Amino acid sequence: KRIPIDPVTALKGQYPHFMLKEIHEQPEAIADTIWSLATLDPPALYFDDLGPAADRLADIERVVLIGMGTSLHAAMVGQRYIEAFAGIPADADNASEFRYREPVLDDRTLVISVSQSGETVDVLEAMAVARQAGALQVTVCNTAGAQTTRVADGTVYTRAGLERGVASTKCFTTAVVALYLLALRIAQAKGRLSDRELALHLHDLAQLPRAVSEVLRQQDLVRKRAVSLAAAQHVLFLGRGLAFPVAMEGALKLKEVSYIHAEGYAAGEMKHGPIALIEPSFPTVAIATRHALRTKMISNIEQIQARGGPVTGVVTEGDAELTALCDAVLTVPAVSSWLEPVAAVIPLQLLAYDVAVHRGCDVDQPRNLAKTVTVE
Ligand code: G6P
Repeated sequence: KRIPIDPVTALKGQYPHFMLKEIHEQPEAIADTIWSLATLDPPALYFDDLGPAADRLADIERVVLIGMGTSLHAAMVGQRYIEAFAGIPADADNASEFRYREPVLDDRTLVISVSQSGETVDVLEAMAVARQAGALQVTVCNTAGAQTTRVADGTVYTRAGLERGVASTKCFTTAVVALYLLALRIAQAKGRLSDRELALHLHDLAQLPRAVSEVLRQQDLVRKRAVSLAAAQHVLFLGRGLAFPVAMEGALKLKEVSYIHAEGYAAGEMKHGPIALIEPSFPTVAIATRHALRTKMISNIEQIQARGGPVTGVVTEGDAELTALCDAVLTVPAVSSWLEPVAAVIPLQLLAYDVAVHRGCDVDQPRNLAKTVTVE
């Protein structure tokens, strides 16, 4: 007798939700993405799908990254990589704003669109504007043959595999590592990356999947934090530098799946408004890893606590000072400064998931949200 199998349940395997499954798939998805674009021995980059864009990267004088939602947050991290590695001006912009504002572009501008699906309407319309202006275009995409890959001059594929949870997780971290490698590729084209520097970057990237696995092992600790945050009406996420987009992403994850109002802010903005909200029932999550302007974050944390606000810190393992200072901490292993956003986002993804489960929300199908937004 045949046992009926529900294909969706079967695909979830041991996990109760796709979101949790996809969070746990990150070490492998990150490794697959890195090693589809690079080798360690010899240290080299391989971008097979860049097409005509490959030869034009050397002439690029400016980069604009565009995306929506989680992909925009990955683009914000990528912007910092491109400025730092390639030494050229880079901006990250919301595709829905970009498309309506007649941006100044020319054939020496590279527009990098980041889109998991490659079908998001605002991204496609923004790409049409960029095309009209004669800009070179590369898309970072997770879906073979998607529309962004047809419009762009070249593609960098992430290897996250199918993502079904509406709230994106593994497509954020794989887009960040793909953008890291693309920034190195641009730096190389511009003669700004020595073989030795490339080898060091690839060595750092090679450590990342294991670091992410380590964070995933702390799920019980995260669950305890989630229980206390689940009662909050509002949560503030703060970060500086590379941790600012992570704060934005942490807030987005929480609001998407738990329906708690959450804001991601650059910590330097605290005194320009958000601090007025702080009181004992308003918790803050502060990303204060080793390289994320940690001492500046310590002042922010002290200012919040002075107003009675409880602070959960996302800190580097072994940081005794911050562990003593914060009301609670979630730790991440030490990784290179450039890779801290990938390590630091993992506890925030788990936190959002656990808060949502605790509140009885439909994690994989949050109300009012679609996986891919194909109409305005
Ligand atoms: C929707 C999804 C998000 C995603 C965004 C951009 O809002 O719910 O998870 O980040 O679209 O999608 P894309 O496919 O362009 O990355």
